[in-house]
Amino acid sequence: MTPSLTVRRIAAHQGAVLRELRTASLREAPYAFGETLEDALLVDAASFDEMAARQASSPAAATFLLYTEGHPAGLVGAFIDESGRGRAFVHALWVAPAVRHLRGGELLVNAASHWLAQQGAAEVYAWIADENRTAMRFYERLGFGPTGDRRSMPAHAEEWETLLVHHVQIEERRAPGAA
Ligand SMILES: CC(C)(COP(=O)(O)OP(=O)(O)OC[C@H]1O[C@@H](n2cnc3c(N)ncnc32)[C@H](O)[C@@H]1OP(=O)(O)O)[C@@H](O)C(=O)NCCC(=O)NCCS
Repeated sequence: MTPSLTVRRIAAHQGAVLRELRTASLREAPYAFGETLEDALLVDAASFDEMAARQASSPAAATFLLYTEGHPAGLVGAFIDESGRGRAFVHALWVAPAVRHLRGGELLVNAASHWLAQQGAAEVYAWIADENRTAMRFYERLGFGPTGDRRSMPAHAEEWETLLVHHVQIEERRAPGAA
C-alpha cells in the first residue's frame, strides 16, 4: 500500500525532530548541502530548540516537515534573505530514501513556495549542487529554471552549485496590505 504523505510547518517544540532530520539528511546525502554533518553535530540541542521555535513563527523563515503515517520523513527550509536583496529561498530539502518518488519532495517544495508567496515573494530561488543531477531534474520538473548564477559550495569549495528560480503565480501572492 502507498503510504500517505502530509506536510506541516514545524511546531515550536520540535527541536529534537529538526535535529534528527537534519543530521539524517547530512549523513545520507552529504553531496547535496552547504553544511557538513560535523557542523550540525557541533550544534547543541538547545540551539535546535531555538531554531524550531523561530522557524515555527517567524515571518521570514520557516521549516516544513514531511510525515508518512504520522512519522517525520523529510524537511525543507524557506527563508527571505533580509541581509541581501530580499530574495526568497527554499533550501535543505531532504526526503527519507524509503519514501522517495512518492511526490513527498514536491509536497514540501510546494508548501514552502506557497508560504513564501504568501509572504510576498514573486520568485523562489534554490541553490543546487551541480553534481546533484537528481535534484536538478526534480526542481526543473517543478518549473524551476536557470538564473545564470553559479558559486563554489560553502562546505565543499571544489564543488559548484547553480542558482535556479521559479516565478510564483500572482494569485498565490499576498494581496497588498493583507495580514
Ligand atoms: C531530491 C529529493 C528531495 C526528491 O524527493 P522525492 O520525494 O523522491 O521527489 P518526488 O517524488 O516529489 O519527485 C520525483 C521527481 O524528481 C525527479 N527525481 C527524483 N529522483 C530522481 C532520480 N533518482 N533520478 C532522476 N530524477 C529523479 C524526477 O523528475 C521525479 O519524477 P518521476 O518520479 O515522475 O520520475 C530526494 O531525492 C532527496 O532527498 N535527495 C537527497 C537530498 C537532496 O538531493 N536534496 C536536494 C538538495 S538541493
